[in-house]
Parts: sequence; structure tokens; C-alpha cells
Amino acid sequence: MADQFHVGLDVLTGERPLMAHSPAAVRQPAPEAGRTFYMETFGCQMNVHDSEKVAGVLLRRGYRQVDTPEAAALVLYNTCSIREKAAQKVFSRLGQFKAGSDGSKVIGVLGCVAQQEGEQIFERAPWVSLVCGSASYRKLPELLAELEAGNRRVTGLDTDTDETFETEITRRDNPFRAYLTIIEGCDKACAYCVVPFTRGPERSRSSASVLEEVRQLADVGYSEVQLLGQTVNSYRDPSRRISFAELLVAVSEVPGIRRVRFTTSHPRDFHRDIVEAIDSIPALCDHVHLPVQSGSTRILRAMQRTYTREEYLEKLAMIRAARRPISVTTDIIVGFPGETDQDFADTLSLLDLAQYDGVFSFKYSPRPNTPAISMADPIPEEEKGRRLAVLQERQRRIQTARNEALVGQTFEVLVDGQSRKENQWAGRTSSNRVLNFSSPQENLLGHYVQVKVARAGPNSLVGERVI
Ligand code: SAH
Ligand code: SF4
Ligand code: F3S
Repeated sequence: MADQFHVGLDVLTGERPLMAHSPAAVRQPAPEAGRTFYMETFGCQMNVHDSEKVAGVLLRRGYRQVDTPEAAALVLYNTCSIREKAAQKVFSRLGQFKAGSDGSKVIGVLGCVAQQEGEQIFERAPWVSLVCGSASYRKLPELLAELEAGNRRVTGLDTDTDETFETEITRRDNPFRAYLTIIEGCDKACAYCVVPFTRGPERSRSSASVLEEVRQLADVGYSEVQLLGQTVNSYRDPSRRISFAELLVAVSEVPGIRRVRFTTSHPRDFHRDIVEAIDSIPALCDHVHLPVQSGSTRILRAMQRTYTREEYLEKLAMIRAARRPISVTTDIIVGFPGETDQDFADTLSLLDLAQYDGVFSFKYSPRPNTPAISMADPIPEEEKGRRLAVLQERQRRIQTARNEALVGQTFEVLVDGQSRKENQWAGRTSSNRVLNFSSPQENLLGHYVQVKVARAGPNSLVGERVI
């Protein structure tokens, strides 16, 4: 069984065609012969967006992106190490590629596995030439110059930096929703999590720089932006000019911007001013991703999450008290060391109380360097699997009921998918639900349309366009 269960993905969304709509088209040098790169990305939205920025750096240096590793002179893997399986995938990909590599290519490992494993990657995969973690991406132009000069072992592994990764151009993949990092790294210390080690300390971008990029995005036609950070709401403007909630408001006031999203929020730093901003500004999407991780205060304490079950439920009550219904999604880990049947039952009862619109659920995976790796009383894999299945089934029923309650309502969607079947489209509501509908009109991609919900499943809605 897949270890993720969430609102959203369905048959249509994987088929997004790319539009000719790229800020990277601005003053790009002509590609030089032989300077080709292929990049594959694993992991979270921050990694996806980092890859877009890395692609911008490469295009700026005259590289051209190609679709297969075979066709590329430079092959980059932007990696994730959040769970063991994710990290293993990277080494199996590197292993597969070894066979095809005759030394004529430069292979690079970027991202969280690069930061975590460092130079050991050269030992496990000696055909790798570049190892660079996300906190060192500002050094990429230098590292690339070294590779181009023929150096075969190049690393960027510092994390003790205040700097953020801002580039002259970013080659965005998604033509409808533009990602934008506003805070990098993480200063929380959740006992299970590698991110503070792999992404370094928390660094916020200046609000002036964020707003400038939003204006540029609006200029090239984006109407939806998603502000990113591992703890996005811990954002602190280095110039101390504005708070996170004020930044949300300022972004939503940029002419041309119709939708503003942000992810991921940490419950500890989630305050009333964010709810008030969403309540009063329609452009701020009515969706909050607020990971709870467990419904048991005992386990939350062991996880070092810095809030109790009751405190989390208070934050939730604050969101539910908004005048505008706000959709809430979460992340949950089952089988954390020492999780008893009672702790797990507490998580299930929290699901009933919270009534989430989507849950990403995971089996606990022990990770290097983290405090939890040495905790006693590990839960057997089969038991973790059983708990995950129980949790997912419980949530499936909740989501089905919540989505069915939307039948008959009309929502505005931004159309971002087209099915191979004629006249079938997919859009996202402000609450981030997938709403599929049929319409004979040609090319609706990128348009906002009104759709009335006719049917509902646990992960998506089906409706009719309202003209
Ligand atoms: N910064 C975000 C999410 C980080 S990673 C936050 O604080 O919520 C995304 C999710 O992966 C986490 O919310 C958590 O549910 C899960 N995760 C992180 N480390 C994990 C581990 N060692 N085992 C299983 N799941 C993990
Ligand atoms: Fe990991 Fe916790 Fe930071 Fe999220 S807040 S990235 S779970 S350490
Ligand atoms: Fe993975 Fe790193 Fe993101 S570990 S989830 S790619 S921050």
C-alpha cells in the first residue's frame, strides 16, 4: 500500500502540458554545444523549486535542458532523505546509471542526501563528481566552473550560513502555480527529522526581495503563487519590517495575483493574525496545511513538537471559528518509538475531532543523526503497517463525507489539467481540492471557471461548469 493518502492527486493531474511561459526566456545566452543537463527531482515542494532555481543557474551559463540522462553531459539528482526508502531510491538510481556511464558525463548529487552523506557518496558511487546540499547552492556557479575546468570531485556542504538561494532566473516547471521560497532551513528539532541537518538553520528572505519576485511573476502571467518554507509561518523579515501575516497580505495585493498559498505551517508559530488575514482577503486561499504528527501529547513530547494535543486543537478551533470555511490538511507519523495502542487511539480520535480535508500519513522511519534513532521500544514494521492502514481507512471515510457535503455548491477553479479524453478538465479550488469537469470549450488551461459539484469521492470532486 502506498504510504501516502491525501486529497488531490488523481488521473488528470499528472498530464499537465507545459506552456510556453517561462521567465527564463529573459536574456538567456545561446546554448553552447555539449553543455546539456538532465535533472531528476525527489522529495518535497522545496526540492522541486530548488531544481527550478538550479535549472535557472545552468541556463544562465549556457546549458540546455534535455529529457534523458543519456542525452546529457551533466546529470543531476536532487535528492530527498526524509525516510529511508526515499534515500535508498537515490542510490538505486545512481547504481542504474553507473552501467550507462563511461566517464563522459558529469554526475552530480544535490539536495538532502548530498548534505547528509557528504563525501561518503564518492565512496559509494565513485562515478559521482559533484555533491552539494541546498544550503550551499549559492556557490553553484563556482562549483560548475570547477567542473567545467575538469575537476572531478567538487563539494558544497556548508550549512553555517545566513544566505539564501536567490538566482537571477528561475526556470519554472508549473505554468499555473509559481513556487517561491520565503524561508529556508529549519530551527525546530523534531526528534525524527533530518531536515534541520540537511537544510541547515532557518534563514528568511527579505520581504522586499519576496515582493519583487511576486511582481515579476505577475508580470509574466502567473496569478497563483505558493510561498514555501519547511516552517513557512516562522518567517521573520530580516529587516523586521513586516510579520508573516502582513507579508501574506502584501503578496495578495500585488496587481495580477489572484491566489496566494503557503506551506508548511508549524502549529507553534500559527497565530490568529494568519486566520484574520485569510478571513478578510479572498485572494488568500482557504487552505492551511498544519501537520500534527500525533494525537497523543506523550508522543508529541517525545517527538519534541513543542505543543500538546490540546494546544493543537485550540489552534484548530481558531481556524474553524473563521467566517470563511478554511480547509485543513495535516501530516501524521504512525509507529514512532514507544507509541502504544492508547497513543494510536488518541491519534484516531484526533482525526474524528479535527475533520481534516486531507492527511499525508507515514510509517515512522529511523533516520541518521536524529535523536529518535536511539530511542528504545521500536514498533515492528508489520504493526506500523497495520496502524497506517487503519488510519488511512478512517480518514478515507471522513474525507468522503466531507467532500459529499460539497455536492451542489459552486467553486471557482483554476484549470490546470486536461485529460486525454476530449473535453475533460481538472482544476483546483481555492481550498486545493481537485475538481474535474467537462466543457466543450477549447483550451481552458490557466483560466478561472465556476464549477458546480455533482459527485464526490475521497480524493476529488466531479462537477459541471456553470456558465
Ligand atoms: N516541515 C514540515 C514537514 C517536513 S517533512 C513540518 O514540520 O511539518 C514532511 C513530513 O514527513 C513530516 O511532516 C512528517 O510527517 C514526515 N516525516 C518526517 N520525518 C519522518 C520520519 N523520520 N519518518 C516518517 N515520516 C517522517
Ligand atoms: Fe522537520 Fe520538524 Fe523542521 Fe518540520 S519542523 S522540517 S518536521 S524538524
Ligand atoms: Fe526530503 Fe529534504 Fe524535502 S529530506 S522532504 S527533500 S527537505
